[in-house]
Amino acid sequence: MPELHSVYRHREFGDHLTTLADYERAGGYLGLKEALALSPDDVLYAFHRSGLRGRGGAGFPMGRKASFLPKDTGKPTYVVCNADESEPGTFKDREIIEHNPFQLIEGISIASFAVGCERAYIYIRGEYEHQARVLDAAIAEAREAGRLGPDALGPGRPLDITVYRGAGAYICGEETALLESLEGKRGQPRLKPPFPAVAGLYGCPTLINNVETLAALPPIMHRGPDWYAAMGNEKSPGTKLFSVSGHVLNPGNFEVVLGETTLRELIYDMAGGLRPGREVKAVWPGGSSVPVIGADSLDVALDYEALNGVGTFLGSGGCIVMDDSGCIVRASWRLAQFYRHESCGKCTPCREGTGWLANILGRMVHGEGRGDEDIRLLESLFGRISGRTLCPLADGAVMPVQSALELFRDEFVRVAHEGSPRPVPMTEAPVG
Ligand SMILES: Cc1cc2nc3c(=O)[nH]c(=O)nc-3n(C[C@H](O)[C@H](O)[C@H](O)COP(=O)(O)O)c2cc1C
Ligand code: SF4
Repeated sequence: MPELHSVYRHREFGDHLTTLADYERAGGYLGLKEALALSPDDVLYAFHRSGLRGRGGAGFPMGRKASFLPKDTGKPTYVVCNADESEPGTFKDREIIEHNPFQLIEGISIASFAVGCERAYIYIRGEYEHQARVLDAAIAEAREAGRLGPDALGPGRPLDITVYRGAGAYICGEETALLESLEGKRGQPRLKPPFPAVAGLYGCPTLINNVETLAALPPIMHRGPDWYAAMGNEKSPGTKLFSVSGHVLNPGNFEVVLGETTLRELIYDMAGGLRPGREVKAVWPGGSSVPVIGADSLDVALDYEALNGVGTFLGSGGCIVMDDSGCIVRASWRLAQFYRHESCGKCTPCREGTGWLANILGRMVHGEGRGDEDIRLLESLFGRISGRTLCPLADGAVMPVQSALELFRDEFVRVAHEGSPRPVPMTEAPVG
């Protein structure tokens, strides 16, 4: 595997960048210094040149999104950092916040300079209590040092950041539901357009980006957008954090240069591989909302296009691994329960459809399935849910189940007739 020059600096300097002094010793705030020497438009151009794509799931080019924000509207402009991180299998933003909060704060400062924002928000998932405290402490320290406050972005150019804690709803990671929640309303998605870039928080131009996206900006500005773009490949430049969990011996976050590492290398060389005698059965490489792939796709390169090529998505980089001791129908049922619980209920196909998915899979798993009739019923549901709703949560509920059924049809048919044996915890399960 190629040597990695980490974008997320704590990975090179150890987990000690939680004070401003340590962060600055590790090269912190050099990126903002470079940015402030340029015009905001030049900084936007640098984002664009780096090729950085949004790391929250959709992979939309960051520079392009930032350039959509209208200027001189007479309204405030906001930057909102999406730290909701509720996609099952995803825990990379937590690591950045916990070990390197100042890189995120610096990234938000750079983005705020580029789009003319004086008040930024970090919307953090409710369960991240410790991480919210880490951020609060870092922000207080940055204020004390003048890195935030009236002259944060140069004389007379203020910036402050507010941390806002969610209350544990997955849907509040969807950007417009997040904005509703931040405004104090029920967290349900808005109809788009207008997009947040034009009418976001309080109807004002708003740039919303994921933690990992914003935290990439300081090194991009410091080392230059061409340095960043030179890593990876043309359509998938830079590095990406993958959270690996499930049936692996060394779960955790791993940073890879996009396109240069395969899924097999991620699982076996970085995440410790599987228990002796076990083989990979299924992988959800980009969080629980993406189509599942099988062992024959393990040599796929980890980048946006290559993963699309094997029928799935890079998504959030939450890579969930299942070995051949697991039941794919039971796993699909577990995911379906999650989406049923998290559906905000605004659209009928999602509200009702996720319930149907969970119910049918549940009775199959518990030996109460209706055999082939249930398989046909499942198949008839997919098209009645996907693409018919306000936000992509419903598609995310369908894709893992539909892909699992396509890939492991025989197992679904067997479970629909016979049920699924109770799972054995990984620690107790016999090796192969
Ligand atoms: C149901 C749902 C949940 C989402 N959860 C998150 C999340 O937890 N964190 C995140 O950054 N993006 C999440 N997104 C994507 C956001 O809507 C948005 O695309 C993202 O914050 C944009 O940032 P990026 O361009 O930097 O990726 C979610 C989307 C959907 C549909
Ligand atoms: S698709 Fe589901 S989560 Fe999204 S708005 Fe509709 S009901 Fe809510």
